[in-house]
Amino acid sequence: MEIAILDNADKAAARAAEHIAQALAARPALVLGLATGRTMEAVYRHLVRIHRETGLDFSRCRTFNLDEYLGLGPDHPGSYHRYMEEHLFRHVNLRPGNTHLPDGAAPDPEAECRDYERRIREAGGIDLQLLGLGVTGHIGFNEPPAPFDAPTRVVDLDPRTRAQNAGVFPGGFDAVPRRALTMGVGTILAARSCLLLVTGASKAPILQDVLRGPASPAVPASALQRHPRCLVLADPDAAWGAGGAWRREA
Ligand code: GLP
Repeated sequence: MEIAILDNADKAAARAAEHIAQALAARPALVLGLATGRTMEAVYRHLVRIHRETGLDFSRCRTFNLDEYLGLGPDHPGSYHRYMEEHLFRHVNLRPGNTHLPDGAAPDPEAECRDYERRIREAGGIDLQLLGLGVTGHIGFNEPPAPFDAPTRVVDLDPRTRAQNAGVFPGGFDAVPRRALTMGVGTILAARSCLLLVTGASKAPILQDVLRGPASPAVPASALQRHPRCLVLADPDAAWGAGGAWRREA
């Protein structure tokens, strides 16, 4: 893994957006894996800025999001469909048919997971997968323990994850679904390159486990240690906060 620590969270997000923009400029038909969460809002803000300033072209890009809550249709305010529309899709020239998320309202969620894997395969696999880190160590919604060879699947959400994400649900914690559809760790490891962005002191202890601990299903993101092309971007709070991975003098 290559690790870069930027001056602050906004600069780390800007670097992530530039990395994506460079990949897209070099390969206009890029198959791009996307993530959600508060950390990614700044990435999409910068990506939209770059699109407006430079005309970065998304017209041939295909996107696959990591995950979606089980039971939520695309119009639900807590859904990741809605999140992506608000933060990226409506602001750039991605074609609607080229954006993919697992359908949380699919009548047969297991079949939807299998179909999602098929769609990724038919697109030629993911070139670049953007990732955030959950406080449980999850990537996508792969809560511990997460088998490293798992495909897209239905998972139970850890109560810590539901608490962390409760803010966007008008009904709070109780309104956060208990299950989700997510690319598996195996799906993520199959991406040709990965970009993990981690900011904020609350992530410092788990980031230390991800980078310095043994690669173990108990810390799902630690699987990235086995990825041949993974860039980790962090801000000083995540890298050096209490229990963080580096001391300042390191
Ligand atoms: C959700 C997403 C994850 C993301 C995580 C981090 O749980 N499913 O893919 O990494 O949020 O969220 P935040 O950036 O808000 O800390």
